[in-house]
Amino acid sequence: MNNFSFYNPTKIVFGKGEIAQLDALVPKTAKVLLIYGSGSIKKNGVYDQVIKALGKRKVTEFEGVEPNPYFETCLDAVSIIKQKKIDFLLPVGGGSVIDATKFIAAAALYEGKDSWDILSKQVEVKQAMPFGSVLTLPATGSEMNKGAVITKSETKEKLAFHSDKVFPQFSILDPETTYSLPKRQITNGIVDTFVHVIEQYCTYPVRNQISDRFAESILQTLLEEGGKVMKNPTDYDIKSNLMWAATLGLNGLIACGQPEDWSTHMIGHELTAFFELDHGVTLSIVLPGVLRVMKKDKLDKLAQMASRVFGINEGSRTERADKAILAIERFFRSLGAPTHLSDVNLDASCIDIVVERLEKRGWALGERHNITPSKVREILTNRI
Ligand code: NZQ
Ligand code: ZN
Repeated sequence: MNNFSFYNPTKIVFGKGEIAQLDALVPKTAKVLLIYGSGSIKKNGVYDQVIKALGKRKVTEFEGVEPNPYFETCLDAVSIIKQKKIDFLLPVGGGSVIDATKFIAAAALYEGKDSWDILSKQVEVKQAMPFGSVLTLPATGSEMNKGAVITKSETKEKLAFHSDKVFPQFSILDPETTYSLPKRQITNGIVDTFVHVIEQYCTYPVRNQISDRFAESILQTLLEEGGKVMKNPTDYDIKSNLMWAATLGLNGLIACGQPEDWSTHMIGHELTAFFELDHGVTLSIVLPGVLRVMKKDKLDKLAQMASRVFGINEGSRTERADKAILAIERFFRSLGAPTHLSDVNLDASCIDIVVERLEKRGWALGERHNITPSKVREILTNRI
C-alpha cells in the first residue's frame, strides 16, 4: 500500500425530506447566493423545498450555470457577490453547479489579477467563501470532494483545480430529487461513477486489499442497480444506492494508498471542450480504448476485476482481461451510452485536434506517466 493522507470535512445529510435540514445547516444570519442551472429544480419541486427551508434568510438567486460550467459565467456570480455582500453560497443541482460554486467561492476572495490562473497556472487557493450543497444528480462526487472543472469558452479549455478550501461544508443528498432525471443523465451518472472507480483501481497492484475491495463493491453495486434503474426510475432504494455509490466513488476514500490513472478523464475533457459532448459520454467512449491500449500495464488489475467483479474465471489472464473490457462495453451500451466516436458523429479528424492540444500541454498521462500524445492517438483510433 502506498503512503497517503486522507482529509474530508464535508458533512453528508442523506435521505428523503432532508432538504429541510438547510434551516439548521445554513447560518441564520447568512446572506445567501442560491446558485442553480437552467431550471430543472423549479420543475421537480426542489427549488420550493430549498426556499421553504431557508425561511427568512436573505436570498439572492444566480440562475443559468451551464453543464460544463463556464469561467465567464462564474465571474458574473462573483460580481453579484461583491455587489450584494453575499456571505454564503448554496449550489443546488448537479456537478456543474457545485463545481461552478467551488470556483466562484475561490475567485470571490482571490487577490491576484486574473482568477483563471487558479486553473491555468494552478495558483494555490489561499481562501474561499463558505458553502454547502444540495445535490440533484449523482455522478461527479463533487458534493464531497475538493475538485472542480471549469471551461473557458473563449479558448475552449476545460481545466481542473483542487483545494482543501473548497470542500463543501455540507451536502444534502435526497435520492427523491433524482426521480426527475432524464435517462441520458442517469446513464451519464452511472458511467461517470464507474469510470471514477476504474481510474483509481485499474492500475497496478500495491497489495491494497481494503481499497481494492471498496472499489470492487462500488463497481458491483453499479452493475446491479444500473441494470434495474431504467425500468424503475422512482425506486427509492435503487436511487439511494446509486447516489451514495457516486459520492463514495470520488470522495478520496477509495484512492487511499492506490496509484491513480485519470487518463480517460483528461482525454475526455478535451473532447468535451472541443465538441461539447457530455462528460459521461466522453468517458464511455474513451475508457475501453485506454484499457485495451494499456492492457499490458494493467493486466493484473484487469484480471482481478474480471474475476471479482464480473465472475469471469475461465481462461488465461489476458483472455480474462479481454472479457472484462468487453463486459464493461456491454454494460455501457446496456445503459444507452455510446462507446465509439462514430456513435456521436465524430470521425478520425477529431483525433488530431485532441492530440495536438495534449502535445502543447506536454502532458504524459496515466499511473505510469507513459500515456504520451502518440498513445492517445492509438487510444482514440481504437474508438472510431
Ligand atoms: O441545468 P439544470 O437545470 O441543473 O439541469 C441539469 C443539466 O441540464 C440536469 N439535471 C441535474 N439534476 C437534475 C437534472 N434534470 C432533471 N432532474 C434533476 N434532478 O442535468 C444536466 C447535467 O447536469 P450537470 O451538473 O452538468 O451534470 P453532472 O453532475 O454530470 O456534472 C458534470 C460536470 O462535472 C464535472 C464534469 O467535467 C462536468 O463539467 N466533473 C466534476 C468532478 C469533480 N468536481 O470532482 C469530477 C468529474 O469527473 C467531472 O469531471
Ligand atoms: Zn468524471
